[in-house]
Amino acid sequence: MFFRMTMDVFASIAFGVELNSILMKDVHPFAAAFDTVQNLCQKRFKDPIWRFARLTQSSEEERIIKREVGVMNDFANKVIDERCDRGKTSELGPDLLSRFLDVKDGEEKPAKSELRDIVMNFLIAGRDTTACALSWSFYELTRHPEIMQKVIDEVTKVCSPADEAGGPRSRTYSDANYSYDKIGELRYTHAVAMEVLRLHPSVPIEVKFPKKADTLPDGTYINAGAACIFSPYAMGRSEELWGPDAKEFKPERMLNEEGKGLEPSQYKYTTFNSGPRLCLGKGLALMEIKLALAILLPRFDFQSKGHDGGYQSTLVLPMSPGLEMKVTAKK
Ligand code: HEM
Repeated sequence: MFFRMTMDVFASIAFGVELNSILMKDVHPFAAAFDTVQNLCQKRFKDPIWRFARLTQSSEEERIIKREVGVMNDFANKVIDERCDRGKTSELGPDLLSRFLDVKDGEEKPAKSELRDIVMNFLIAGRDTTACALSWSFYELTRHPEIMQKVIDEVTKVCSPADEAGGPRSRTYSDANYSYDKIGELRYTHAVAMEVLRLHPSVPIEVKFPKKADTLPDGTYINAGAACIFSPYAMGRSEELWGPDAKEFKPERMLNEEGKGLEPSQYKYTTFNSGPRLCLGKGLALMEIKLALAILLPRFDFQSKGHDGGYQSTLVLPMSPGLEMKVTAKK
């Protein structure tokens, strides 16, 4: 459900299109093609001759990738064409695609293939990462009901206004205020999201290739082009970095004594990478996670059917085999 939700959110942000795949019985064709291509591309890491197979179309996997990339491109091209037409006659929307089409007089519009690659890139970067983070959030919160209650209390206090007579706050949340500013005030919920991503970083392993030979601060020499791998997953659980309780889920470690947010160093908390190549979507991802928690937790009871915390080894960190939940609307 979270993969569908983040796909819908991204289709809206990137293309200005409402996919509504969360309401569909079957997976949306674009989303299905996207998943198939991601999974099969992953297999290329373990296949030294995948380029040959792609060139000659000699493997079933490469033939499927070609077919499904066609489905994705057709969808993206259709949306881009419609947007270009709309841009000629009316105002462009606030979506990402429209931002790139909104060029100044005399400037050239980006090529269609370039536009398609930009939106696909954002989709790949933003959809699975945020969906995984949401599943792990529910995994941790159902294991720690007292922390879940603190999130609900904060959301009620910040987003759900007291009634006119100053009586108890609305329990239906129908008039709750989820504005950008209000979500920014959810400090404890922010700490929960950060703590989830410390223990379950959506990108568990990262690889960098230095352009030139270099020497790291600890004296390690690295050749140009050498694969340098670091693991935000291992770093997030390191007792050396986080103390003897490193493996425990404690959102308080992301807060100072006054309950305000404590932003850990990017070089200790590497979930979003660090320095000039810090994740561009960090703020958006955290806002999406907080918003989803703020909308769902006060309205529904979530009961996990039990999970051992196992994960699948992919580019991101999906739960294995997913997190089964019993969800009931609160009375
Ligand atoms: C919990 C959610 C997310 C996590 C944990 C995450 C993590 C990361 C990491 C580790 C990188 C660096 C990858 C590398 O080393 O090459 C990265 C890059 C990037 N992310 Fe995210 N990301 C998340 C959500 C998003 C979202 C929602 C967007 C889209 C708006 C996004 C857009 C990007 C982009 C464009 C880059 C490339 C930045 C660059 O190389 O300069 N990410 N992200």
